Amino acid sequence: MQTASPTPSVASMDMQAEARRHLWLHFSRMGGYDTEHEIPIITRGEGCYVWDDKGNKYLDGLAGLFCVNAGHCRPELAEAAHKQMRELDFSIIWSYAHPKAIELASKIASLAPGDLNRVFFTSGGAESVESALKLARNYWRMCGRGQKAKVIAREIAYHGTTLGALSATGLTDLRAQFEPLSPGGCHVPNTNMYRYPDDRDPLLLADAIEDRIIFEGPETVAAVILEPVQNAGGCFVPPDGYFQRVREICDRHDVLLISDEVICAWGRLGHFFGAERFGYQPDIITSAKALTSANIPMGAMICSDKLAEPFMEGTESFAHGFTFAGHPVASAVALANIELYERDGLLEHVQNKEPEFRAMLESLRDIPIVGDVRGAGFFQAIELVRDQETKETFEGPQAEGLLRGFLSGELYRRGLICRADDRGDPVIQFSPPLIADTAEFEFMHDVLRPVLTEASQRMDMF
Ligand SMILES: Cc1ncc(COP(=O)(O)O)c(C=O)c1O
Repeated sequence: MQTASPTPSVASMDMQAEARRHLWLHFSRMGGYDTEHEIPIITRGEGCYVWDDKGNKYLDGLAGLFCVNAGHCRPELAEAAHKQMRELDFSIIWSYAHPKAIELASKIASLAPGDLNRVFFTSGGAESVESALKLARNYWRMCGRGQKAKVIAREIAYHGTTLGALSATGLTDLRAQFEPLSPGGCHVPNTNMYRYPDDRDPLLLADAIEDRIIFEGPETVAAVILEPVQNAGGCFVPPDGYFQRVREICDRHDVLLISDEVICAWGRLGHFFGAERFGYQPDIITSAKALTSANIPMGAMICSDKLAEPFMEGTESFAHGFTFAGHPVASAVALANIELYERDGLLEHVQNKEPEFRAMLESLRDIPIVGDVRGAGFFQAIELVRDQETKETFEGPQAEGLLRGFLSGELYRRGLICRADDRGDPVIQFSPPLIADTAEFEFMHDVLRPVLTEASQRMDMF
């Protein structure tokens, strides 16, 4: 039997050993870490950069995980948290309200597109998605159409890991360990235009949603959930007119449109909300991550007046909530974060600098392993291929060897944090803090060119 360990101070303990012994890293193969393959330990951040416990500096080309949008350790956010903690550390938003949650809800409503005026706070992305799915079901029940409970999502899309959100997540490997899931998740093709036949109408991808609604029976479908730019698979951008067609389809069949903007909101695409970039009006937006620039956990599910209305009358209520939702300190940080965006013109910066960022990535196309470059705003990906002409991909152990055996380690060793991912075809993803500029793009280039060139030369080994 294991006995309880004494608690050592951080300074005195061997952090590697303690991390391997006690810390359960998410989505990580804990068995892969040993004395030769250490757990990276990040100890400090500033602006676009972080440092590890050995003093090595890295460009955080992923902004944490698509979330430290204003850059690391902004004093304005620390001060907002400090001030709030001295004034009102915590108060629940179940039946009570507090000034910062009120102010933040009003601010978000003023920024959100159309009549998305009602804000339901959460503690993170999966909770926002979970809340949206529960609202969609419950809304239809309140309308006397309780059979409308299914949700249509896209293949390979990630919507979170809680059991409800997981039923929307379209990644077999993430679902398999936990089945049976919450029922009602249906999947349709995503907008992978790189592998879509040139001679086929791209809007057939939107029509596939209608086909599925009809197949399931519109009287059983509550909502469609889509990211403005799909992350998993590598920044799948919608073809022109896609979301307008989806909106028409949803309206035709009385199905709600949920825009999952856990990544795409808060400036990532150069707008407060991703739906603005592509000009569509969702019924619900789910967000989290960069709402506080990840300085403190917080999410928000933002819905239209129409959806909230049935819950605002008489003795009705939405029987759903989380203790930490709308936390005063998180709300204060989110308000300070939005203020920073506005003061520093971060949205305009992304809009102005997107072409330069993209051009840097495009300039790598001469390297044989670079198959595609795609994305929007400061959310871009490179797809890796064996053959640019045939688009032959790396599968199974080959992708494993390329990404985990070589690229991830090599990019990190040279000081660049980005994401090498093979949940679809292998890609490397980039989502730097929104303050990134020419110096950061140049550094990315100077790391990527030799590493991708070497990967091309070693292709036969993968
Ligand atoms: C589109 C999308 N939805 C939901 C989630 C889940 O968010 P969280 O990890 O905060 O629960 C994520 C996380 O990356 C996401 O990208």
